[in-house]
Amino acid sequence: MEISERAAQLTPSLTLSIDSKAKAMKAEGLDVCGFGAGEPDFDTPEHIKDAAIAALQGGFTKYTPSAGLPELRQAIADKLQADNDLTYKPGQIVVSSGAKHSCYNAILATCQDGDEVVIPSPYWVSYPDMVRLAGAEPVVVQTTERNAWKMRAEDFEKAMTPRTKMLILNSPNNPSGAVYTRDELAAIIEVAAAEDIYILSDEIYEKLVYDGVQHTSVASISKEAYDLTITVNGFSKAYAMTGWRLGYLAAPEAIAKAVDSIQSHSTSHPVSFAQRGAIAALKGDQQPLADMRDEFAMRRNYMYDRITKIPNITAVRPDGAFYVLVNISQLGLSSQNFADRLLSKANVAVIPGAAFGDDRTVRLSYATSIDIIKKGMDRFQDFCRTL
Ligand SMILES: Cc1ncc(COP(=O)(O)O)c(C=O)c1O
Repeated sequence: MEISERAAQLTPSLTLSIDSKAKAMKAEGLDVCGFGAGEPDFDTPEHIKDAAIAALQGGFTKYTPSAGLPELRQAIADKLQADNDLTYKPGQIVVSSGAKHSCYNAILATCQDGDEVVIPSPYWVSYPDMVRLAGAEPVVVQTTERNAWKMRAEDFEKAMTPRTKMLILNSPNNPSGAVYTRDELAAIIEVAAAEDIYILSDEIYEKLVYDGVQHTSVASISKEAYDLTITVNGFSKAYAMTGWRLGYLAAPEAIAKAVDSIQSHSTSHPVSFAQRGAIAALKGDQQPLADMRDEFAMRRNYMYDRITKIPNITAVRPDGAFYVLVNISQLGLSSQNFADRLLSKANVAVIPGAAFGDDRTVRLSYATSIDIIKKGMDRFQDFCRTL
């Protein structure tokens, strides 16, 4: 059977092997503590579900415009203005089947054969493969724990070539939880703007920041930033709506139009009644989000404090998202080997950093109950002491 070169070049998911092993162990009745989750362990708030149910029952089950319902695009424009100080017309916004879909659409609309896309590492697992699917080449910039896993403007400058088309920024970051400050972003944008390099700014964890840390939208920094940035966001993390498959991007009009065309010929549009739920999410009560954030903050403090007490591993206190990235390089094991042994010997599932382009690390998610975190951290600590 012949498959396309495009498909053949994709890297198999490193996260899947640990995940399937953990599931198989659970099915055998073993008590596995899962720190692998990439989604909130909270339910979607009731008023959001109610809006989608009412839409379904009212027969709102047909095609919508490809870029999304006008009322939803307006609600997103209002949100971007109020929360992010960004002025977008609804025509600059395209609603999609998830932030992942928006990232892919944005890359397809702007990058092609011969282009390079700079991606700071550790990165969210899908970016390099999305870039390759568009025919372009990922250029990975390794960051360091010393710099809190953030790329500095000078690191970016060194990675740039005449072929650089785009930079992908993700703040708050998966897997490190790093949040870039306004000044750090401004310095990077200055470098990008000098060469008209697009910035794909994935802000999906925007609402999950702790201790009063401020999230800054890249496009809000300057006129140059606005003109070069494609802002991606969605509903999965802020409203615990991962399964609804809803996200969006906001961009200069020409890019938004190109993205709309791509979407109209591929997925048509996101699910009609789910879009009604998204309107309720943006316009309705924001208290469930605040409660979820408080709970995440408490778990983060607990998990991070436990990690700091374990010899020979280190971590930067994460400012956002729901992950702690642990540096295991002093232990002398590859991230995959560490994760495999931790799972089989201590029944704790973590994601090897190799999946995010950094083999010195493993990612622990605190999107699980505090009881599981306590039990899992006891086991994690005992395991690390045996190495
Ligand atoms: C950085 C980042 N971007 C995008 C996504 C995808 O979000 P969505 O569920 O809206 O497609 C994820 C999901 O884990 C993520 O971590």
